[in-house]
Amino acid sequence: MPPHEVYIEAFVGSGAIFRNKRPAKASIVIDIDADVARYWRQHRPTSTTVICGDARSLLRDRTYTGRELVYCDPPYPRSTRRWQFPLYRHEMTNRQHRELLATLKRLPCSVMISGYRCALYDRALAAWHRIDYLASIHRPPHFAVESLWFNYELQALHDWRYLGNGFRERERIKRKQSRWRRRLSSMPAMERLAMLDLLLELATSEAASPPGRPESSETASRTRSPKNSSPGSRQGRDRDPSPHSAIRFFSEHPPPPGMLERSSK
Ligand SMILES: C[S@@+](CC[C@H](N)C(=O)[O-])C[C@H]1O[C@@H](n2cnc3c(N)ncnc32)[C@H](O)[C@@H]1O
Repeated sequence: MPPHEVYIEAFVGSGAIFRNKRPAKASIVIDIDADVARYWRQHRPTSTTVICGDARSLLRDRTYTGRELVYCDPPYPRSTRRWQFPLYRHEMTNRQHRELLATLKRLPCSVMISGYRCALYDRALAAWHRIDYLASIHRPPHFAVESLWFNYELQALHDWRYLGNGFRERERIKRKQSRWRRRLSSMPAMERLAMLDLLLELATSEAASPPGRPESSETASRTRSPKNSSPGSRQGRDRDPSPHSAIRFFSEHPPPPGMLERSSK
């Protein structure tokens, strides 16, 4: 999931994703089924608003800031099902799916939608990214290929616990994090801040020139090492703190009294 401040899960049902994701500053869950909404009103975290209503019009009529992530898991289109009997009290016709997709394509924020591939979705979401994955289902053959479509480029994550493809890679990253944590915690605090400054600088310059985009001269001068920098370029102590640098961060969020002295011994 991309970073977001407000998480909106329409078609929430039992909230398999909502319950397992890192909470956002504020969340909104939507379901048309009154029993589902009642359940969430009784069990919601305090930062969550529950709305009982039709997700299609609620998503269409809302005002967005751009810092939302909208996730939809609507009832699957009939054409994708092996069994044609209704699964939910409220199902959606193909026309309603088309309306929903048209609304989602106009939203000015990050959007993801999951479901089974079908001509309707493939056509409407052809310009979006799609990943396919095996999901467990209740009936034989117990697994089915589900898809997730999304409209954003993933450059950072809302929840870094899920970084990595598959369990082994995630475990490898966790082990690396533990090693770095041990090394960083044993460093004097000022040295640790120097590492933070470096990390923020690398992240800032990467965001300014993503792969494939030529480096701007300003970014190039910020990331160039003293060895290969041109004469007269501003480096080290002379340069202004970048907007994300640790220097700027700590001038705006002073550390608690004693923090630096205590850990730098
Ligand atoms: C596929 S299920 C969602 C499953 C969910 N991801 C979970 O983890 O349980 C679809 C849900 O959408 C709800 N629903 C159906 N039509 C809706 C609509 N127009 N607006 C909002 N919710 C709707 C149903 O009540 C059902 O709970």
